[in-house]
Amino acid sequence: MEQSTAVQEYGPDESNGTVNTASITNNLVLCSNSPEHQKRSQPPLVSALKASAEENAASFHFPGHNRGHAAPASLTRLIGIRPYAHDLSSIPELDNLFCRQGPILEAQKEAAKLFGSSETWFLVNGTTCGVQAAIMATCSPGEFLILPRNCHLSAISALVLSGAVPKCIFPDYKNDWDIAAGVTPLQVLNAIQELEFEGKKAAAVFITSPTYHGVCSNLSDISELCHSRKIPLIVDEAHGAHLGFHSKLPSSALQQGADLIVQSTHKYALNLGTCRDHVQRLISGVKYLAATSSTVQQPKDRLFTDHAPFDDIIMSLTPRDAFFASKRKVTVKESIGKVSGELICPFPPGIPVLIPGEFITERAVDYLLNVISKGADISGASDPLLSSIVVCNVVDDNY
Ligand SMILES: Cc1ncc(COP(=O)(O)O)c(C=O)c1O
Repeated sequence: MEQSTAVQEYGPDESNGTVNTASITNNLVLCSNSPEHQKRSQPPLVSALKASAEENAASFHFPGHNRGHAAPASLTRLIGIRPYAHDLSSIPELDNLFCRQGPILEAQKEAAKLFGSSETWFLVNGTTCGVQAAIMATCSPGEFLILPRNCHLSAISALVLSGAVPKCIFPDYKNDWDIAAGVTPLQVLNAIQELEFEGKKAAAVFITSPTYHGVCSNLSDISELCHSRKIPLIVDEAHGAHLGFHSKLPSSALQQGADLIVQSTHKYALNLGTCRDHVQRLISGVKYLAATSSTVQQPKDRLFTDHAPFDDIIMSLTPRDAFFASKRKVTVKESIGKVSGELICPFPPGIPVLIPGEFITERAVDYLLNVISKGADISGASDPLLSSIVVCNVVDDNY
């Protein structure tokens, strides 16, 4: 399992209006100090893996490298055979991720205790898969999901999969820091009320906290607001699995009352293996940047803002309808004013500038061409150099 995710289950207790939370954690959690761990000395999955790898088993299951006996020599020369001996499948003694009864269930229970959730599930295929699962668990086709427009592209793919309709919040931009701010409780309230005014209800609220740049939102107030209206709060905490484990860090989303939390424990920039020397090098680098950046002159007539132009976005189709619409390829110049048929996303940080169903603006195109000219990679687009863009064939596709 390459990573784990923490998810909390939304279950309002009708009798007292409280929310029954559940959480999920990953393999890192297995380092807990629970009495079971003390006794066994090794976490459940690790001891099960160790025992299985030490057996001299004749194996007829996948993976096809047969516990390393058929592994490519070019790789065993690099990493040896031992990693392959431990690269095992859902064999009975290792449990089944989709029907947990043994060491996976035990490990997930340990993780739930550590993170303080009522339930925890481990993920494979990245946090993306947890974000998609959380949105699909709460939103049916046509229902509304309140989310920040600068969310990770995984949330947009979840809109396509679920058929949920986005009700976007546009976080303020902090010019002094040159990064987007978090989502405020007032912005969430406004979004809920705007929907209510149209006779609609949000099926869920989705917040990214911390953001890719480390900005945390006030989740306590946001969760209180959501729960007062019985709306589940999902938090993409991909960059915050460490929160709540130190008094000087912000509380975790779970501690602040969120219902479903997805974490990337595999994403730690600093982790238990980070040595003092590496931290020192990081600090020196940041100090150097801080000292030199103030001396760099910004041209007064700068054509482009450094942040993606989100404030004039208008949607024509839902992301799902746009994804499945008939489409055509047009030149980048012709695309302006048309409805985007694809997701176009500079990477990193994986925040899409255009999503399927949005009208393509000149500002968005200028921004994208500018970041490409500065060397950014574009993901999602059929033509990553953007000489062409795929647009939807809609009757009135003029902005
Ligand atoms: C905020 C956020 N959410 C979700 C993801 C998706 O994570 P993964 O690449 O593990 O699927 C990322 C990836 O960088 C991210 O930054």
